[in-house]
Amino acid sequence: MPLSDLISTGKMIRARLILAIAGTSIKAIKLSAIIEMIHFASLLHDDVIDDSDMRRGERTVSFRFGNKRAIMFGDLLYSKAYLELSNFEDKVVKSISSAVCSLSLGEILDEELSEKFNSSSHLYMDMIYKKTASLIEASTYCAGVISHKDTDKLKEYGKNVGLAFQIVDDILDITASEEEFKKPVIQDFKNGKCTISYIYLYNSCNNQEKAFVLSCFKKKLNKIEGNKITSLFEKYDSIKYSYKVANDLIKIAKNNALNDEFLISILDKIIKRVS
Ligand code: IPE
Ligand code: MG
Ligand code: MG
Ligand code: MG
Repeated sequence: MPLSDLISTGKMIRARLILAIAGTSIKAIKLSAIIEMIHFASLLHDDVIDDSDMRRGERTVSFRFGNKRAIMFGDLLYSKAYLELSNFEDKVVKSISSAVCSLSLGEILDEELSEKFNSSSHLYMDMIYKKTASLIEASTYCAGVISHKDTDKLKEYGKNVGLAFQIVDDILDITASEEEFKKPVIQDFKNGKCTISYIYLYNSCNNQEKAFVLSCFKKKLNKIEGNKITSLFEKYDSIKYSYKVANDLIKIAKNNALNDEFLISILDKIIKRVS
């Protein structure tokens, strides 16, 4: 089977950012391909860890071919990416390798945090920095290295884009329709993932409401419970609050976007996206 049948391309945000920063030289294109291979490998493994059947509007590789093949295909992509990465300068190799360590630590933390109810936004932010933002941060930083641009600003830009991106992804799990989102919705809380809106909700609730929220954790909710959670979300404006946090991060990213039209235009898309 051709690999193209296995790989459904996503939004390719990381590659788009690299090419926007570093131009379309062979080196920039290779760096983009390396990052997308790493990203896709991490999703293959993530879908095994999360037992997910759908991604990007299609059945996952693990669903279609089993966990063993998904893990091995992920390993193959990681290895190929590292082989190509070895041709790059030290700064790039170190930045990306260390981002992959962070990403893996983030996935471990995500799993650990889901063992019991997590009401700490600090732990949540640290975990999403590691699992999602670190690779985007490394992508924009390395694009800056190979094109001799302001790497401090580009690093800060990528980090904040990554944090906002994951926060919006976590909001969409609650607010999007399955058709829009191209993956199942209302999965996170059921799977033990206390994302930002749940953390904010829990910390806003009175004791009785807190006990109710806790009783819904890791459970498939019936209609009455679902409606009650929705009305608590509305009562405390949890979704609005979560978008505000994402928007504040986007503002920091904007201040570090080197006044680049594309880097600025992508920020609005991250906040407004529905998939
Ligand atoms: C993001 O984690 C995956 C990685 C950063 C590897 P999630 O589990 O939250 O992502 P989705 O919802 O499956 O895309
Ligand atoms: Mg997942
Ligand atoms: Mg996951
Ligand atoms: Mg998710």
